[in-house]
Amino acid sequence: MSATFSTAIVVGASSGIGEAMVRKLAAGGTRVAAVARRQGELDRIAAAAGGNVLPFAHDVRDYDATPALFARIVAELGGCDLIVYNAGVMPRVEESEYDFGKDREMIEVNLLAGMCWLDLAAAHMEAQRKGTICGISSVAGDRGRRGNPAYHTSKAGMSTYLEALRNRLSRYGVRVVTVKPGPVDTPMTKGLKLPLMIGVDQAADGALALMRSGASEGYVPAIWGPIMWVIRNVPSTIFRRTNI
Ligand SMILES: NC(=O)c1ccc[n+]([C@@H]2O[C@H](COP(=O)([O-])OP(=O)(O)OC[C@H]3O[C@@H](n4cnc5c(N)ncnc54)[C@H](OP(=O)(O)O)[C@@H]3O)[C@@H](O)[C@H]2O)c1
Repeated sequence: MSATFSTAIVVGASSGIGEAMVRKLAAGGTRVAAVARRQGELDRIAAAAGGNVLPFAHDVRDYDATPALFARIVAELGGCDLIVYNAGVMPRVEESEYDFGKDREMIEVNLLAGMCWLDLAAAHMEAQRKGTICGISSVAGDRGRRGNPAYHTSKAGMSTYLEALRNRLSRYGVRVVTVKPGPVDTPMTKGLKLPLMIGVDQAADGALALMRSGASEGYVPAIWGPIMWVIRNVPSTIFRRTNI
């Protein structure tokens, strides 16, 4: 199966993987609504794309504003074939730090606001009996590692929410795709030493290939599939003594 998209919304579009997906979708002829807080970055991306990108400045934690913005974007785009929820934050958390403010931001941006946007998209696509919903989750959602409990929780929640949406929506011809990247070199990971780091172009190409295929979910790059199979199967009593 191979899908092309006439219209798309990318939430979390102003840098990193989101910016690269917007650039590639627009270059392929898709009209893209690019959503994030930094208007200046969105304007730069729209100017470089030369007409196919519509910028919308928005903080995803402004839940009350989201339904009207979603409706406005669908009207201005002339539809919504694809929505990608990519917005995310991962503040640095020390080994013995328990900071509810940081935890709250991660759950709100990475998960709760994703549910706000994707609930709207799900209702729209269920009614039109077609469309593709994609969430950028992470390998981090496959296991609760000790380094950043709330980040892992946010991504595990996103993966489970997407699975449940898929189980609801597949009967209506709506696809739901879960993308689980490994480490990607972006502003989020600046200064971190992480294994098998890839660039944003490879990450965006891998994510878009999954959206265009018939896949329900996939790792980017695919090597993380067998790696995470092993990591998921390490017994908890051993896993807690490691930092993998
Ligand atoms: N980098 C990695 O290694 C990696 C690996 C697996 C998964 N991921 C996931 O990939 C996604 C993209 O991350 P990235 O690495 O490309 O990082 P990034 O360059 O920091 O991009 C994060 C995006 O989220 C947006 N965002 C953050 N808070 C927001 C808010 N309150 N309202 C609206 N937009 C908000 C940012 O836009 P503004 O700041 O302009 O609002 C930006 O466009 C995230 O969900 C991340 O968890 C990343």
